[in-house]
Amino acid sequence: MSKIKKALEKAKIQGFAIDRQRGLQGSETEKTEQVAVPKYFQTRVIEISPEILEKNKIVAIDEDHPVADQFKLLRTKILHRTRGTRHNTIQVSGFDSEEGKSMVSVNLAISMAKDTRQTTLLVDIDFRKPSVHKLLGLGNNIKGLKDYFENRLDLEEIFVSPGIDKLTVLPAGRKMLNATEVIGSSKMEALVKELKERYPDRYIIFDSPGLNTCPDPLVFSEYVDAILLVARSDFTSQESIKTVMNLVPRDKVLGTVLNDSRWFEPMAYYYRY
Ligand SMILES: Nc1ncnc2c1ncn2[C@@H]1O[C@H](COP(=O)(O)OP(=O)(O)OP(=O)(O)O)[C@@H](O)[C@H]1O
Ligand SMILES: [Mg+2]
Repeated sequence: MSKIKKALEKAKIQGFAIDRQRGLQGSETEKTEQVAVPKYFQTRVIEISPEILEKNKIVAIDEDHPVADQFKLLRTKILHRTRGTRHNTIQVSGFDSEEGKSMVSVNLAISMAKDTRQTTLLVDIDFRKPSVHKLLGLGNNIKGLKDYFENRLDLEEIFVSPGIDKLTVLPAGRKMLNATEVIGSSKMEALVKELKERYPDRYIIFDSPGLNTCPDPLVFSEYVDAILLVARSDFTSQESIKTVMNLVPRDKVLGTVLNDSRWFEPMAYYYRY
């Protein structure tokens, strides 16, 4: 059995034990139960495959993987910066395309969930090129925020539990043509507010496109407490970095992850704050 497979089995067993203990408390249905919404929903559970995780470089689940340690370091720095501030909504963005933003978002969310002190919600708000569901292998026709924004499904119907204790995922679903308008809508702003306030001890990681690629991540940055930028070594240009640094509210930038750096092996990541 591969290391990721073993780690996944372990995470599932822990999650099951805790869910049984807490009953509904562990699911996204808790709040709606309290305010007596008439429908009953149970968070969808979708089993994720260790082979798919491994192939997509989602390694934070495996305690022994050298890169898992780097995500723990990133997690620790973020927690130090944000604990006690009520800053729990973190947007992962970057400069251009294909820098590793989604890979970092998913690994960071898993690493955060593995820390005992908080739960984590991972939200895909890249409505042009949704990929969180692909990285986790949740299936291509997954229901998600597209269905919520087009009023086909309630929020409670699109949460996914990927079988990792304390991690919930809100997939984007299929891509949207009017992504910027959806991101800029009052419904989107209200959704972020609702997610932020639902559980005080939960961190929410939003995977978004690069700031030089489209207006969506800049529009979205207004709703979050903090932004984490991902640059790719030998790929992201200085020009791109300068443009973005003049765009984003500096006080919100938590730091920059330098992904794929040759200084560190294997699959190196490097964080500068
Ligand atoms: N450190 C790394 N080492 C090797 N491959 C990597 C690394 N980081 C990312 N990749 C690969 O690069 C590709 C792009 O990664 P990812 O989708 O996470 O980037 P992205 O910035 O989210 O892209 P987009 O701008 O399209 O949303 C993927 O195939 C991913 O597996
Ligand atoms: Mg991406």
